[in-house]
Amino acid sequence: MKNALEQIRKNALEALQAAKDEKSMDEIRVKFLGKKGELTAILKQMGGLSAEERPVMGQLANEVRGFIEEHIETRTAELKAAAVAARLKAETIDVTMPGKKHTLGKQHPLSLVLDEIKDIFMGMGFDVAQGPEVEYDYYNFEALNIPKDHPARDTQDTFYINENIVLRTQTSPVQIRTMENRKPPIRIIAPGRVYRSDAVDATHSPLFHQIEGLVVDKGVTMADLKGTLEIFVKKLYGENSVVRFRPHHFPFTEPSAELDVQCFACHGEGCRLCKGEGWIEILGCGMVHPKVLSICGIDPEEYSGFAFGMGLERIVMRRFNIDDLRLFYENDLRFLNQF
Ligand code: DAH
Repeated sequence: MKNALEQIRKNALEALQAAKDEKSMDEIRVKFLGKKGELTAILKQMGGLSAEERPVMGQLANEVRGFIEEHIETRTAELKAAAVAARLKAETIDVTMPGKKHTLGKQHPLSLVLDEIKDIFMGMGFDVAQGPEVEYDYYNFEALNIPKDHPARDTQDTFYINENIVLRTQTSPVQIRTMENRKPPIRIIAPGRVYRSDAVDATHSPLFHQIEGLVVDKGVTMADLKGTLEIFVKKLYGENSVVRFRPHHFPFTEPSAELDVQCFACHGEGCRLCKGEGWIEILGCGMVHPKVLSICGIDPEEYSGFAFGMGLERIVMRRFNIDDLRLFYENDLRFLNQF
């Protein structure tokens, strides 16, 4: 029996040393000291011992129990300390390590100025409207008083999807869609992409952006057009901007005009920026043609309106002194980070 008890002590010690975590401590306790454990099994055999042997073995058994308990305790403490140490090591932060730099994105110059333009018009009570970029010939031309054989079609090198569908060459079709869907009073701007089959160079791109404007109500006159657009230009280019309206022709407006702003570089003297003109063209505009109103189901006897359209790229180029349109689409960060 003595040997058996010593064997238990030895086995328990080995098991404890081999244990890797606190959970195995419980298993060891059950295995050696539990009700059905090895030590208990030995104690059950005590009845068969002689009267002299019994207290000796009893004492030894108690000593082995105490020994095992004590070692379970110290081993548990050891494992706990080791676990804490391992965690600390894993979570160590090297404060001398260089940090990760998060670079913030910036707004594209086109979006930047478009947002400004939207703000200006929204401040004057305009809504922002939208229309499809793949458009019916009807909306892009026909309803704007540009029939199939009209020479104005030649100036807008159109991408045809088929005979009736085009990539819109201007944002003006949004005028038609808006008048079809809404009753006056109407006050909208419609910014968006437009497409023309132009070769790419410093001032041309097959994709560019326009901003359309439309106002329809009772008693709208050319004076409203001039006042609204003059305020717009002054908000965009500064209070001291000088504008002029120059007669022009568009099929969908009558009368039509172009709005020029006096060159900010030379104040009208003529320089490189304005190509010696003294003035820079900003947009086309006019009173909505009565025919166009009628086509959209609005009675031209009762209502009148004005419309305007401008190219976004040219406005942004002038604003930031950018001399090549291609920079807008190349997404070169050295360019984009400047805004
Ligand atoms: N759609 C014209 C163009 O692309 C611009 C324009 C001119 C729009 C006069 C208008 C307008 O609404 O009234 O050249």
